[in-house]
Amino acid sequence: MDKIVVHGGRRLTGEVVVSGSKNASLPILLSALLTSEPCRFQGIPGLADIHTTLKLLAGLGVKVDKESWVAGEGDIALQADNVTKLEASYDLVKTMRASFLVLGPLLARFGAARVSTPGGCAIGSRPVNLHLKGLEAMGATFEQVHGYVEAKAAKLRGAMIYLDLPSVGATENLMMAAALAEGTTVIENAAKEPEIEDLAGALNKMGAQVKGAGSDIIRIEGVKDLKGISHRVIPDRIESASFVIAGALTGGEVVIKGAEPGHLEAFFIKLREAGVALDSAAGSIRVRRPGAIKSVNLTTLPYPGFPTDLQAQMMVLMAVADGVSIVTETIFENRFMHVQELDRMGADIRLEGNRAVVRGVKGLSGAPVMATDLRASVSLVLAGLVANGTTEISRVYHLDRGYEHIETKLSKLGAEIERVRG
Ligand code: UD1
Repeated sequence: MDKIVVHGGRRLTGEVVVSGSKNASLPILLSALLTSEPCRFQGIPGLADIHTTLKLLAGLGVKVDKESWVAGEGDIALQADNVTKLEASYDLVKTMRASFLVLGPLLARFGAARVSTPGGCAIGSRPVNLHLKGLEAMGATFEQVHGYVEAKAAKLRGAMIYLDLPSVGATENLMMAAALAEGTTVIENAAKEPEIEDLAGALNKMGAQVKGAGSDIIRIEGVKDLKGISHRVIPDRIESASFVIAGALTGGEVVIKGAEPGHLEAFFIKLREAGVALDSAAGSIRVRRPGAIKSVNLTTLPYPGFPTDLQAQMMVLMAVADGVSIVTETIFENRFMHVQELDRMGADIRLEGNRAVVRGVKGLSGAPVMATDLRASVSLVLAGLVANGTTEISRVYHLDRGYEHIETKLSKLGAEIERVRG
């Protein structure tokens, strides 16, 4: 298994170009299941989760042209004109939970689907009850058989749906299903993440009638069929912010190109409170750190709140800040897997339920550490950048799910980082 080795202590300077959003790409690629016409997508990042999605689509009978994507250009062409199978297997869903998002499109277009339930994962039990409840309101029936949800619906009908939690995945699954349902669907307490707006934009290009995406009430008028599109996904806000933290941590000056600063407002507020200087213009963010890092408290919340996907990275910044900060995680129940590893690197973090009390220390020291989930693993890379000595991160397959060429991008900024193939 590959390892990432970081020799800490280098200031990062220069420009880095951000990739397309992983979390926008996954549902948008799956939305090609809603039409028999060809769809072309641009800006798709070269990540393990995209491989899994393409494998899933190809297994259903979708024609996949990924030549340009494999060459690193980010274009993928899909055509679902001969779907031969309506199943997402356990192997795929356990590798990537977002595979569960095939359920809505398959049910809406073909009236049936058999999809493995995801089960637990490193960051807690992540149920899919809201996806199922919403589809049930639209007339689907479900049976749980051998770990699979077997779903049927002669024709989905529009429905009033209230989500008990603004789940990103449930909002996406239901939006895709409602696009081809008969009549009007209203999703209340919908997730408002930029990736939801991007999916709605793609669906509307296909001829869907989705209004209100980005607010907490989304209204979808079902249409009979949808057409092929060409769509470029939004930049990855989590990758952008991770580079901002890398620049801030190392006290360098980094410009993040191709980013969308408007998607990172809560994050920017917290970073400025922490003493980081940020200048943003259309498509770019410049980060500098004029003085010491100040500790700040933060609580993860659904968008537009502080993203849970940046909690681990922000904790590294707080680990070397002046003072004590309280980091509260409200989205996932077990998302502090990085804490023990950071403590092994000399951080002083104490867990109290869903809160972490982070006492800033003067410096971190390099150590062999283990990645446990996607965002935890990038936090260890960030910690390695400022640690004294060498940090060796194992199980980097977690990192490869969400960060395209991270070691190449960081080395171009001056980091001493390499991948050791194993
Ligand atoms: C998506 C993102 C992930 C991010 C998360 C929260 C993708 C591919 N992944 O994950 O990176 O961390 O949003 O911003 O876009 N829940 C239920 N029942 C459900 C569905 C969710 O109780 O049916 C709970 C979950 O357990 C969790 C919370 O709702 O506690 C939020 O989950 P959700 O927004 O659905 O996250 P994902 O879509 O899985």
